[in-house]
Amino acid sequence: MDKIVIEGGYPLRGDIRISGAKNSAIKLMAVPLLTDKAVTLTNMPDLRDTRSMAGLLEYLGVEVDRPKPDVMTLHAPKLSRTDAPYDLVRKMRASFNVLGPLLARAGEAKVSLPGGCAIGARPVDLHLKSLEALGAKIELDQGYVHASAKGGLRGAEIVFPFVSVGATEHTMLAAVLADGTTTMLNAAREPEIVDLAECLNAMGAKITGAGRSEVTIEGVASLSGVKHSVVPDRIEAGTYALAAATAGGAVRLTHVRHDHLGSLWPLIAQAGARVSLDKDSVLIERGTGRPRPVDVDTQAYPGFPTDLQAQFMALMCLAEGVSIIRENIFENRFMHCPELIRMGADITVRGREAIVRGVPEFIAAPVMATDLRASASLINAGLAARGETHISRVYHLDRGFEHIEVKLGQCGARVTRQKDD
Ligand code: UD1
Repeated sequence: MDKIVIEGGYPLRGDIRISGAKNSAIKLMAVPLLTDKAVTLTNMPDLRDTRSMAGLLEYLGVEVDRPKPDVMTLHAPKLSRTDAPYDLVRKMRASFNVLGPLLARAGEAKVSLPGGCAIGARPVDLHLKSLEALGAKIELDQGYVHASAKGGLRGAEIVFPFVSVGATEHTMLAAVLADGTTTMLNAAREPEIVDLAECLNAMGAKITGAGRSEVTIEGVASLSGVKHSVVPDRIEAGTYALAAATAGGAVRLTHVRHDHLGSLWPLIAQAGARVSLDKDSVLIERGTGRPRPVDVDTQAYPGFPTDLQAQFMALMCLAEGVSIIRENIFENRFMHCPELIRMGADITVRGREAIVRGVPEFIAAPVMATDLRASASLINAGLAARGETHISRVYHLDRGFEHIEVKLGQCGARVTRQKDD
């Protein structure tokens, strides 16, 4: 197993090109299940999660071609099977979203329940209720969802009791080919949902309102092929912006949609770094002196993303004063705290709140990555730390950050990947 070793204390200086969004790419990869025409995705990140999803699609009979690292063509003239076994779904939760498209295209599907994960229970009840509302018959048996809709899916009004990104996307993927009109109320508004709707609309779908709470989907009989560019990864961009604010220096992020991070920039500025927004780039400059404390509350988009909570906490660990970080989306997303504490941070967790009392510096220590975004917070802490930080279990990181050591290395960071002993 690999580990990442960081010699801390070198400010970051340089440009970082932001990749296509993991969270968008893995949902877009379910789109070819809905058509017999080819779907080409450009600006594709090359990640463990996109490879896992490609593996599942190949199992289902989709031809997967990767002519260049950032281009993927997916083509399913016909499907060879309609089941997704546990071994493939457990690797990546989002792969559960093949259920809706399989049902829409083939009238039946058997997909493993994704199960819990490190950051919480993460149920899929809203996904299943939506599919039922669209006319699917759902049965749960031995960890599998058996779904059928022999006469096809039909449009329905779906009111989500709370915002769910996964359920909004899944419903959209199922309803595009349904008979009649589907309305989603209290839909999630994340940029990745807009990206999915834009791709589907370019294929002939009729989706209006994506990015707002009310989304309407007029079902169509078939979808054509498409070439679609994956939206830039706002979480990767936010992570590197916070890396610069934490470790110091000046980093320009390029190929970024800064309007997708409207909740982050004012908080970074409040913490004392300078943020300059340009057309598709952002410059982050950390001045001298310690960051100022800023409270953060995670919310669904356009609020502060749960996926940047751990990285913001790493910055706050060095602040001159106390900050409170509240996690509202997941019940168990503070697993990075014990690791940051091993590096000298002073954090007390009380339920959904972490009270962070700033310390002057991080001191390097061996730490363990516990989930994808938590790993990124340890990287940011390691960049700022005195000494050599060893982060084990980096496979979490490889799920969602493309070439992280190369990108940081280009900015002067001393980051290497080594074999864990
Ligand atoms: C969530 C985040 C997303 C992030 C992703 C990975 C939000 C709103 N969503 O998306 O930004 O990129 O994690 O970290 O910030 N829930 C149910 N039943 C369901 C579906 C969800 O109870 O059927 C609950 C979840 O447990 C969670 C909340 O609803 O507490 C939001 O979940 P959801 O948005 O669906 O999660 P993801 O799609 O994984």
